[in-house]
Amino acid sequence: MAQGQTGRILIVESDRARQTELERQLSAIGHVVETAPDGFAALEHLEHSMPDVVLLALDPERKGGFDFLQEARALLPAASFIAMAETGSTDTAVKALEFGADRLLTRSVRPDALALIVERSLDKPLLARDAMEARSGAAATLPTIALMDRVVGVHPSMQRLFNRLLQAAKSRSTVLIQGETGTGKELIAKAVHEHSLRSEGPLVRLNCAALAESVLESELFGHEKGAFTGAVTRRRGRFEQADGGTLFLDELSEMPLSVQIKLLRFLQERELERVGGNETVKVNVRVVAATNRDLKSLVEDGKFREDLYFRLKVVVLDVPPLRARPSDIPLLADHFLRLYAGENDKIVRGFTQEAKEALVAYPWPGNVRELQHAIEQAVVLCEKDLIDTEDLPIEAPEREAEPLSLLVPGVTLAEVERYTIMRTLEAVGGSPTKAAAILGISKRTIHYRLEEWGVAKSGSKSSG
Ligand SMILES: Nc1ncnc2c1ncn2[C@@H]1O[C@H](COP(=O)(O)OP(=O)(O)OP(=O)(O)O)[C@@H](O)[C@H]1O
Ligand SMILES: [Mg+2]
Repeated sequence: MAQGQTGRILIVESDRARQTELERQLSAIGHVVETAPDGFAALEHLEHSMPDVVLLALDPERKGGFDFLQEARALLPAASFIAMAETGSTDTAVKALEFGADRLLTRSVRPDALALIVERSLDKPLLARDAMEARSGAAATLPTIALMDRVVGVHPSMQRLFNRLLQAAKSRSTVLIQGETGTGKELIAKAVHEHSLRSEGPLVRLNCAALAESVLESELFGHEKGAFTGAVTRRRGRFEQADGGTLFLDELSEMPLSVQIKLLRFLQERELERVGGNETVKVNVRVVAATNRDLKSLVEDGKFREDLYFRLKVVVLDVPPLRARPSDIPLLADHFLRLYAGENDKIVRGFTQEAKEALVAYPWPGNVRELQHAIEQAVVLCEKDLIDTEDLPIEAPEREAEPLSLLVPGVTLAEVERYTIMRTLEAVGGSPTKAAAILGISKRTIHYRLEEWGVAKSGSKSSG
């Protein structure tokens, strides 16, 4: 049995805190971790992924646990099932074994013991997988990762994104890709093109932030001869260049209002006029746009046209920040390690345990791009064949202690509400619009509460 072997783990746990903790522990060792709150949700997971080990927290209160065990056992004959029971719940535990669990643990198992047991439980499924791949001649890659070449993502949020992407790609609908800087929006835009029916056509990219207003307009729509000084010949714009393919408008939020209206007109009529001309040109172009700014609040500030925003928000692909998908971190790290070790002709086998844990714990404000650069630097500078913490250009974050007053039971709902609203506001830089969107409540409720707590003026900068 290989030392330090890693696999795909599905955690079924209704208690959010425990779920997160287990996910953190196991992904820090390099396992690919997925989570589900209950048996029903877990069964849905099995439709698109095949875990090697299933960790099932037995919850006698909740239905679905044993049904799940039975069905999943039949679907995944080679997987290892580990049931975790509350101490003292002997009946449930015995029943779990009857329904096909391979092992039984207490729900309060120590992390180091859990890591070891999970690793040992991988022997059987990994052997089975190797044998299957050898028989079918398939490459030894995880199918969930290879779903889209080059785009690594096994976290459920990324799997959902890929599913949406595949659906959206086939239509001609305009697609809006949103996400923080460095999350992979451009990669996703390329994937939309590659998976569309127009993948044989051109993919033309234009960064709206890179050009001045007047240049941007003629760059996009082209111009007629003599349209302005210097327009000595007629020129086809990016729209015409992208005919039969995809036009990727990057940093769309930076598009000036005057150009936005022309874009809207194109999206409605599918035709355009070159600058300085009145001939109407019909082109067959699918527009994919990306932004790392919140268009909705730009609309509120009058910097983005509301009608264009409504037009664009029909098909939105939200790329989650890296810190929200910890199970992708070790995979991406390995992906970049192989890439840069190859490029630099260096033999670097992997990461030390501490380095892996540090990578997963770090919040990655620059997202995948920051991770990519960190690994590149570590590969280039490291002198041993394993990358250690000191090779990584990141600092361990200070773990913030949650206020004691939020201990459950003991806390009031009002306190939870206040805490949640204030922390969300803090996280989005004080914007009630963004906080309201995250919390699923109206902006008015936020203003009302802030007023109530006497923090109306100081709590937010954009409330006035
Ligand atoms: N899921 C992923 N798998 C593999 N590589 C990724 C993934 N996501 C991002 N990358 C890589 O990370 C880098 C940044 O990605 P990308 O340029 O697409 O981000 P972005 O969201 O467009 O950033 P920005 O908002 O700053 O323009 C690229 O080198 C890209 O190849
Ligand atoms: Mg980009």
